Amino acid sequence: MTQKSLTTNHPGFQEFGSSAPLTPMSLGALLDRIDHEWHSRKRIFDLPTARFWRPDPDVDLSFEFLGRRCATPIGPAAGPHSQLAENIVLSWLGGARLFELKTVQILDDLEIKRPCIDMQTIGYNIEWSQELTVPQSLTEYVKASMLLRILRQWEPLREFVGPDPGPHVFDMSVGYDLAGISDEKVASFVRGMRDATDEIEALRSELTGPWAPFADLDFDTHLADTLTLSTFHGCPPDEIEGITKHLIDVHDLDVIVKLNPTLLGFETVRQIVNDDLGYHDVDVKEAAFAEDLQFDRGIELIAELHQYAAERGRRFGIKLTNTLVVNNTKGWMPDDPMYLSGAPLHVVAMNLLDRLTPHLPDDVMVSFSAGITKDNLADSLSVGVNPTTICSDLLKPGGYGRLAPMLKALTKQIADDGCASLDQWRAEHPLTVHEYAERIRSSGDYHLSANEKLPREVDNELEMFGCVACNFCITVCPNDAFFNIPSPQDEIEGRQQYLVLPELCNECGNCMTFCPEDGDPAQVKPKLYTDPAVFAARSDQGFLIADGQVIDARADAGAIELVQQLLDSGSPLP
Ligand SMILES: Cc1cc2nc3c(=O)[nH]c(=O)nc-3n(C[C@H](O)[C@H](O)[C@H](O)COP(=O)(O)O)c2cc1C
Ligand code: SF4
Ligand code: SF4
Repeated sequence: MTQKSLTTNHPGFQEFGSSAPLTPMSLGALLDRIDHEWHSRKRIFDLPTARFWRPDPDVDLSFEFLGRRCATPIGPAAGPHSQLAENIVLSWLGGARLFELKTVQILDDLEIKRPCIDMQTIGYNIEWSQELTVPQSLTEYVKASMLLRILRQWEPLREFVGPDPGPHVFDMSVGYDLAGISDEKVASFVRGMRDATDEIEALRSELTGPWAPFADLDFDTHLADTLTLSTFHGCPPDEIEGITKHLIDVHDLDVIVKLNPTLLGFETVRQIVNDDLGYHDVDVKEAAFAEDLQFDRGIELIAELHQYAAERGRRFGIKLTNTLVVNNTKGWMPDDPMYLSGAPLHVVAMNLLDRLTPHLPDDVMVSFSAGITKDNLADSLSVGVNPTTICSDLLKPGGYGRLAPMLKALTKQIADDGCASLDQWRAEHPLTVHEYAERIRSSGDYHLSANEKLPREVDNELEMFGCVACNFCITVCPNDAFFNIPSPQDEIEGRQQYLVLPELCNECGNCMTFCPEDGDPAQVKPKLYTDPAVFAARSDQGFLIADGQVIDARADAGAIELVQQLLDSGSPLP
């Protein structure tokens, strides 16, 4: 079966070229959404309370992140789940406590081609940094931090997240070269994350109405003092060294260097992916290996930077791994190369860790992100890595709702083994990385045969109203751009109607991949604009709404009437 056509029902391609800008919602608008949605449906950003994480007081899942306590060992990896404030809130509700924020870099007006995410089987993407401007990114992270502070205190949530949700950590991510990172644009971002007083004071005035009692909260002004350097592909060793030292010296940060799977060497990676795991169609890009950090220089660099940080009273860690560069043989996403993630990357990254382990300084923290799922979380932690951050798995149906079951399964395993904490359990049940890396290399779970199932498809052209109502467009969207409204009785086909907030949609393509009908939900379903300027700047179908009313539209009279009826009958929007 082929992938759904890129052009099917996708007028957005002509209109926006290769860039669909995100327009973040203000803090006040997000709070209004939370208040209205909670009181009308007991959900927050479409996540039902059954998917909220409530810690078990008898099992402590916390770990030490470069000297800081963090209540659970999981969180979103730098990527689409850590860009907008609401994404971070959704991750937190699911139990994430370590947030590797979306990578910020000086080139903040890049045109990323669309669609840019392909999670049809394993994982591929062609996106490579934040889509917001650098100042907008700072504002999003400050908003997220304030929202978490408020939600921790918010009485209605207590029953669902417990009396003490525990500490969380924001870890910055920057890329990709020393010149960009030293520039004032990125430097002021880092300073803003270290001291967000001005941003917070500017946002306080948005805490009105039911949120007014929180206006005087002592919001944490110190958002982050750790940073993961995304070296990405082709970042030379001297540059990695220069950037790390710069971040330690100039910004006084604890630094993690995120390494690429290329460190394992072309022949080994190719053998694992093509021969051992059977992904014959994956064409690992050999040229990328020559440009990247080589193994021997890599271990020298790790030892050197570890010592450099220690001498300055700072901590240093590594992260395994970023995505793997492969040639775009699928042709679905309009760029080449593309970047592989998910199941095969898990095996590559664990084998890289196995090879690195004898050479690592004893106390170096190894953070891990490569194909983490509910099924391999406990084993991954027991080889000694932490945190484990996740991207591909959260882009599959269930989305942020996949986090809490991961933590529940981990809690159960620790409790069943008679332990009271993750630390104790790891000490009593160690698994050597060699044993694990060997096991998964030959285990069927990571083989192509276990990962080639395509999303299900029905033979039906997607229409603006009515569909099989599978809910996938809601859960696979990292930005919570989709929501549904139950159909008013007999008025309209289908149990639920699905609507999209185009200002939160960057046309990543993920809902199109998983929608069983033929078409792109993000283009076909009614687009509800809330910002008149964005509505006016576009020419696609759309409905401009304010206070629950359609006040302008590019649609026929029947569609306008139906959208208004839906909004009247129980919209989660204020
Ligand atoms: C759509 C997408 C966007 C990503 N963006 C970034 C990024 O901005 N910075 C970064 O360091 N890694 C980025 N990554 C890599 C992830 O952080 C993660 O390291 C990788 O996907 C492996 O984890 P996974 O197998 O759980 O997806 C991205 C990955 C995906 C799939
Ligand atoms: S609505 Fe669809 S295309 Fe838009 S951001 Fe969400 S998943 Fe991506
Ligand atoms: S638009 Fe597609 S993905 Fe969304 S609910 Fe309908 S059938 Fe499912």
